[in-house]
Amino acid sequence: MSDKTATLNVDGSSLELPVLPGSVGPEVVDIRKMYGQTGKFTYDPGFTSTASCQSAITYIDGGEGILLHRGYPIDQLAEKANFLEVAYLLLHGDLPKQEELDEFTQTITYHTMVHEQLAQFFRGFRRDAHPMAVMTGVVGALSAFYHDSTDITDPQQRLIASHRLIAKMPTIAAMAYKYSVGQPFVYPQNDLSYTGNFLRMTFSVPAEPYEVNPVIERAMDRIFILHADHEQNASTSTVRLAGSSGANPFACIAAGIACLWGPAHGGANEAALNMLREIGDEKNVKAYVDRAKDKNDPFRLMGFGHRVYKNYDPRAKVMQQTAEEVLKELNISDPVLDVARQLEQIALNDDYFIEKKLYPNVDFYSGIILNAIGFPTEMFTALFALARTTGWVAQWNEMISDPEQKIGRPRQLYVGATQRDYVPVGER
Ligand code: CMC
Repeated sequence: MSDKTATLNVDGSSLELPVLPGSVGPEVVDIRKMYGQTGKFTYDPGFTSTASCQSAITYIDGGEGILLHRGYPIDQLAEKANFLEVAYLLLHGDLPKQEELDEFTQTITYHTMVHEQLAQFFRGFRRDAHPMAVMTGVVGALSAFYHDSTDITDPQQRLIASHRLIAKMPTIAAMAYKYSVGQPFVYPQNDLSYTGNFLRMTFSVPAEPYEVNPVIERAMDRIFILHADHEQNASTSTVRLAGSSGANPFACIAAGIACLWGPAHGGANEAALNMLREIGDEKNVKAYVDRAKDKNDPFRLMGFGHRVYKNYDPRAKVMQQTAEEVLKELNISDPVLDVARQLEQIALNDDYFIEKKLYPNVDFYSGIILNAIGFPTEMFTALFALARTTGWVAQWNEMISDPEQKIGRPRQLYVGATQRDYVPVGER
């Protein structure tokens, strides 16, 4: 702990505020005593300058384009680890030894089935419901099925709920897909890998044999790794905020899913592919880039720009490489990939994008891969939710165990009417 302070001068008096160092990255000015001593709040819409918690899970240096999980660079994890290894790392803080990984894999594998009654629950949705609407409802409903893991004061129950959530998300996402296409639900098959199992539950039908393609399995696993956590983004902050009131983990993750659904967050992968399809041909790229630059046009290049990365998103690099691999394996020549490459080249050399530091983000290439594998665009954000559940539960557990955490309660700058007297309706 350093004894460095920052001085705040306000209304003629000065206040010393502690400056706290992290292990790496910007220091923070601790303003917790500020309101008590000055009667003033800070104002920071969108929390662009506010650290809401201490965390030891994920570190991002947006300027340099660095993403570390528990210290390990994302590109090393994407290349060398599998998703469950990364899930263990996020949850427990260190990479598992072989016996630990085997035990964790076994535990997750044996939680993959969902309560049979949940199948009835699915049948209450319209067939054309968006999978994220279904996921929000079904994951929230898990708290009505797993009463024995909702006591958040019991670390063992918290661990079981975390395992259940990580294990059941692929089953629920696959069920959401099957329901939308009118095919029977496929039960998990526990001798497959986490990702192979998900692919089988999604794409197999009882009438046909199904073999998991190892290249697609590896690509999908890598996509899950790339989405596993991303520090205090909107949905993670939503999970933490919901959890800060003591809500049960299933309800908190459902809140995270609802937040992730928005097009500025997890919904961007769907929006990016739709945009690339709309552009359709390399010759139209320049017109869309011009639209994105036009102040009077609300159009933005989806899959471009990031609140934190002011450099190439390190996940986008791995994603681009994975897109090339998957299209090659499936022998697909998708004109959308050519449009994406061209769009990236034009934007990266354009003054507007250079000045504003707008680079491709994780969502720019992911839609092309998921489309090639066979997922409809509506499923893209559901896959993001599946993978991000690991980060959400890790962050939720960290929050619950942090003695400094309180119920989240932001304040406001009130700009409404001052006190006035009620006027009866006929006299207004
Ligand atoms: N295309 C064109 N202009 C853009 C874009 C874009 N994609 N993104 C930002 N800008 C401009 C924006 O108009 C603004 O210009 P000005 O300063 O002249 O008003 C400036 O860049 C800063 O934009 P901002 O909205 O203040 O930046 P932000 O940090 O609040 O927004 C963002 C970050 C991701 C919401 C935004 O870049 C965006 O809307 N991108 C498109 C959606 C997208 O791809 N989202 C996925 C994010 S990565 C996955 C995830 O974490 O969920």
